[in-house]
Order: sequence, then C-alpha cells, then structure tokens
Amino acid sequence: MTFDIASPPRQGGEARYDPAGDMTDSTGLLEVRDLAVHFHSAEGTFKAVDGVSLTIRKGETLGIVGESGCGKSVTALAVMGLIPRPPGEIAAGQILFEGEDLARKSASELRQIRGNRISMIFQEPMTSLNPVHTVGDQIAEGIMLHQKVGKAEARMRAVEMLKLVRIPAPERRIDDYPHQLSGGMRQRVMIAIALACQPRLLIADEPTTALDVTIQAQILELMRDLRDRTGTAIMMITHDLGVIAELAHRVVVMYSGRVAEEASVADLFNDPQHPYTLGLLGSIPKLHVEEERLATIEGTVPNPYSMPTGCRFNPRCPFAIERCRVEAPPLREVRPGHRSACWRAPLEEHVL
Ligand SMILES: Nc1ncnc2c1ncn2[C@@H]1O[C@H](COP(=O)(O)OP(=O)(O)OP(=O)(O)O)[C@@H](O)[C@H]1O
Ligand SMILES: [Mg+2]
Repeated sequence: MTFDIASPPRQGGEARYDPAGDMTDSTGLLEVRDLAVHFHSAEGTFKAVDGVSLTIRKGETLGIVGESGCGKSVTALAVMGLIPRPPGEIAAGQILFEGEDLARKSASELRQIRGNRISMIFQEPMTSLNPVHTVGDQIAEGIMLHQKVGKAEARMRAVEMLKLVRIPAPERRIDDYPHQLSGGMRQRVMIAIALACQPRLLIADEPTTALDVTIQAQILELMRDLRDRTGTAIMMITHDLGVIAELAHRVVVMYSGRVAEEASVADLFNDPQHPYTLGLLGSIPKLHVEEERLATIEGTVPNPYSMPTGCRFNPRCPFAIERCRVEAPPLREVRPGHRSACWRAPLEEHVL
C-alpha cells in the first residue's frame, strides 16, 4: 500500500499548527525532557525509558513508533501519571504540560488533569470500559467529575458526544452496556469519553490495533476529523507506519528506551536518517510499506539488563563503526528540524 505523503495531513480550521514553525519552539503544549522511567525487580533496575525528550505543540499530532518493548506505552503512562509505583518510578526528567511539571505532581493533582486536560485511549476498549455500567453513565461520569455539572446536563452532553463520534441513534445507544456494542462502536465510545472534557492532549496508544481493517480506517478517519474540528493535540502510538502517514505531522522513532530519530512525516519517510528507521521502512526510501506493518529487522531488541555499550542499535546495524560500539550517539539535528541519534548521519553517502 502506498501513501501520498506529498500532501501534509489536513490542518484544523484555525492556524493552530505551523509546519514551518521553529522545531525548538519552547511554547510546546507538552515538553518531555530527558525522561527516565525505571522498573525495579530482583534482577535489577530496568531502564524502560532512558532519556527521552519530545515536544507536542498545540493541535499537533505526534506519532511515536518503534518495536514492541521500546518504551512507547511507558512514555505515555508517565505523561498520564500512571506508572505503577512500585515497581516503577520516574527516575529523572521533566514532563512539562502547559508549563507545569507533571513529574512533580501529587496523585490527586494528576487525577484532576487525567480525563480532563489530558485523556488517553487504549488498544482494547473492552478492558477499559466498565461492563456493569451503561456507556452513557461512563461518559457522563467524567463530565460530572471534571466539569461540575448535574446528572441531566451530563447525560445530554453524553448524547452529544455519541453523536460527535457518529454512533447511530445515540439517544437509544446511550443506555446500552458495552457488550451490546461492536468493537468499533466501543472504540468510538472510548473516544467519546476521552474527548468529553475537551482535553488539550489526547494520547492514543494503538487505538486501532485490535480492530479489523475496515473499522480501523473508519476510526482513524473519525480521529482525524475530530482532531481537525477540535484542535486537540494527539500523541499517536502505533506499530503501523500507515497510521503515522495518515494522521501524524511529526514522528518520533523510539529504540530501546531512547529516541532514535525525530522528523516531520514527509522527511522521515523520504529521507530517513537513522539505520533503525531504514529497517522499519524496509529500506525502501519511498513510502511503500508492505502490509502497513513494520518490516522485520535482523536481530532482536537488546536484553534490558545487559545493554550494548555505545549505540544500542549497533549489534543490528549494517553501518556500525568502532565509535558506535563505544560511545552512545546523542540526538542531534542532521537536517533542519530533523534529528537523529546516529554517528553516521547524515546517511546518504552510506546508503542507496
Ligand atoms: N509495570 C511494569 N513492570 C515492569 N516492567 C514494565 C512494566 N511496564 C512496562 N515494563 C517494561 O518496559 C518496557 C517498555 O514497555 P512498553 O510497554 O513501553 O513497550 P511498548 O513500546 O509500548 O511496546 P508494545 O509495542 O508491545 O506496546 C518493556 O520491556 C516492558 O516489559
Ligand atoms: Mg505499548
């Protein structure tokens, strides 16, 4: 399947997102700086996220992509204040959301923010919805909690939300229980819950992976439409490069708890600057992603308790040189607005 990446993702009606803007703009809605999340066990300390920095600006959709276990969900859970403690902890870094450091907030302060200014949708809607409450009650609950409105008003707004996510006959569906809805409908309800309090940031962790392909496309289309209408910024976590191409403005590629590369969608697909990204793209410079899935790369992700020295990707990297085995490469700008953590970047003389 091919994607037309010449045309950038549709923007919201207002000029909320400026693709030509300064990438280092400090007015980001969310700025994660040098985040480290550790999990402690009898075997030792596992650095699931090890110095991740990323920025999401107002109205922007940032894609986060990378193989299983690279720390995508842990990054998202840290932003949500949902790292289980113990065994986990935010060991270092800042999570600046609208200027406030969420890494320093108390559990009750974070509860005020979650579901209100930041919402999250997960992969499997059935496990996130409560089977014993109607979908209407579950949407209304968040509205009542955060917006201090009465039951009747919250119910009215819940119907509005079901309409917004295009559930047919919302006045009737509002009294359904989750099991009465199809998988796609349940994910629409999750989106309705997430958007009910008009969050500034929506974190979507593999929101379509559990759905069949037709429904996936519908949900993505819905998310893009809602994004464009509401101006909500989105952190879109996915394995699926097709989803990135469809929805994201910029992409962060993670490898083994770190950022390997960060670029606009077009730059990442047209001019990848990290060998790991080349691997994900199947080394095909044009955006032609087989079955929309990541290509398989030789080797496996490193054992978390014995990380390779130097660049963590070096044992799998066809371009590795001595320096890569010794010294960890910092994330640096190798093209305007395009960062790579690779000693050999820019890559054009090594590849193609
Ligand atoms: N509660 C936990 N306790 C211990 N280790 C954890 C915990 N949660 C996550 N991890 C570990 O942190 C690492 C990163 O996990 P994470 O869930 O962020 O990966 P991911 O990139 O989201 O992968 P996937 O694509 O499979 O969802 C994994 O090795 C995982 O086992
Ligand atoms: Mg995950």
